[in-house]
Amino acid sequence: KEREDKIREEYDEILTTKLAEQYDAFVKFTHDQLMRRFGEQPASCVFVGLLKLLELVLLRQSPDFKLSINTLRSSGVLPSSGDTQQQSEELANRKMLEPFGKEDDHTFGLNSELFKTLKKGTTLVEYSSPNIAKKFHAGHLRSTIIGNFIANLKQSLGNNVIRMNYLGDWGMQFGLLGAGFGKFGCQEKLKENPLQHLFEVYVQVNKEAEHNEDTMQAARDFFRQLEQHESEAVSLWQQFREITVDEYQRVYKRLNVHFDIYSGESFHQHGAQEVVQQLQSRGLLKTSETGAGVVDTSTDGDMSSVCAVQRADGTTLYITRDLAAAIDRKEKYNFDEMIYVTDKGQANHFNQLFHVLRALGHSWADRCEHVPFGLVRGMSTRSGEVVFLEDVLNEARNRMLHNTSQSKTTKEMDDPEDTAEKVGISALIVQDFKGPLHSDYKFDWDRMLQAKGDTGVFLQYTHARLCSLIRRNEGVGGFIFDPSLLLEPTSIIVLQHLLRYDEVLYQSSQDLQPKHLVNFLLKLCHLVASAHRELPVKGSSQDVAQARLRLFSGAGSVLAGGMRILGITPVDKM
Ligand code: ARG
Repeated sequence: KEREDKIREEYDEILTTKLAEQYDAFVKFTHDQLMRRFGEQPASCVFVGLLKLLELVLLRQSPDFKLSINTLRSSGVLPSSGDTQQQSEELANRKMLEPFGKEDDHTFGLNSELFKTLKKGTTLVEYSSPNIAKKFHAGHLRSTIIGNFIANLKQSLGNNVIRMNYLGDWGMQFGLLGAGFGKFGCQEKLKENPLQHLFEVYVQVNKEAEHNEDTMQAARDFFRQLEQHESEAVSLWQQFREITVDEYQRVYKRLNVHFDIYSGESFHQHGAQEVVQQLQSRGLLKTSETGAGVVDTSTDGDMSSVCAVQRADGTTLYITRDLAAAIDRKEKYNFDEMIYVTDKGQANHFNQLFHVLRALGHSWADRCEHVPFGLVRGMSTRSGEVVFLEDVLNEARNRMLHNTSQSKTTKEMDDPEDTAEKVGISALIVQDFKGPLHSDYKFDWDRMLQAKGDTGVFLQYTHARLCSLIRRNEGVGGFIFDPSLLLEPTSIIVLQHLLRYDEVLYQSSQDLQPKHLVNFLLKLCHLVASAHRELPVKGSSQDVAQARLRLFSGAGSVLAGGMRILGITPVDKM
């Protein structure tokens, strides 16, 4: 009892004095205190503090924050005199959470102290980066959605984000493809089903090149023509590139992913040669036994390791183009940090890349980061092994459509196909983001589409249910409500959980792992499910109904905002 009284006193003091001075610090402080002392268990002695907090969190989302400030004043939480006009205006103009989040606004609700410690600047995120005309693999889907998440997260934390797609549009494979197209290609088919056709040609010519030296020679010839900018070869290559980019853009649109810049390896042919010269003039280039140009990348105490930047015939390699690309991006965009998202198989490539950049005197290489991810096993559709990204999206949508047509609780939807598409994609994303990115995982259609269980479907379902609750009770209205009507442990737990949102975003920004946010949102949905059961709106008095609706809409806002950061478009009905 004594301890309870003491804590209560402490909170009262904080509430009346500290709050007015430092709203954000207060929220974090109280939150930390709660977490430290009680973990997730609500205890009676902190109810007072929690209730005040609830008031702050929920009122902060109200469309009229000025009104909220007045409420806080009249309820004695904010002193009504003593703060200057300017202070109160600042407070009133502070960014708040839109109820149920707006399309492009991923901003988090509370502007706590934590975020002041984050460096803000320009972040370049390079992701997706498929190879033109080559087989799409699950890795490109992972890179696409992970990169999109990182870009959204960085943006929501106030950075200027540049989203870049670095196409694999150069190299010997175009020699093969060009030579192959001369033999097996058909312009008609190319127009009808471009990716499919290019893929078929590529498979055929590869098979033939294995045992036919002439084909290999034709491929080398074609690539040489390309490198020498011979117009016929270049225009065919350009056609392949454009067609493929168009196809990919259709898929990106479905995923709600966009890029500010489409770059590619082909942009850096010339720069790559320059890099080789720079390495040479700095005495960093050695010649290997086979005649290749190499750079020593061993660090102290390491076994000796070298990185090849030039073939014996003088042509450059994947890493040479990456060196040129990185330098070019720094010059053009002057980023503060750059993030590359690829499978973990390329970890060594990026280590070497950063190493050589540093050796060339580019200290900003320390602010470049590779985010590696593991393999997806068993990604296949009903028609067999996955070749194209679009097949996966279609299958997700069709399975979802099938599931909803079987379900008894399905609501009238404005556009069932569109809903199935969005829910299907959220299932893919949540399955992918649940564990550490570095781990491999097994693709499992049935598990990821379960309506109950920790899936993207469950997130969407909860969101739609919250929307419907708000829709049905539009008449109850009122942003002013009495938070002391939310005394049940169920409400308190939801509130406590909502208060962790900032912390979770902060944590994600530190290691760039989406699992923190995914698991936070899944837990929120479970808590909301209990709240739905235990805190009915219908049949309650108007005061109670109002207070509960505020709680539910607060949960809805955080859920929608979090889903958007993950790259999921929340649906209002399902
Ligand atoms: N196109 C490459 C691939 O599919 C990925 C490119 C990654 N980015 C880079 N700057 N190397 O494997």
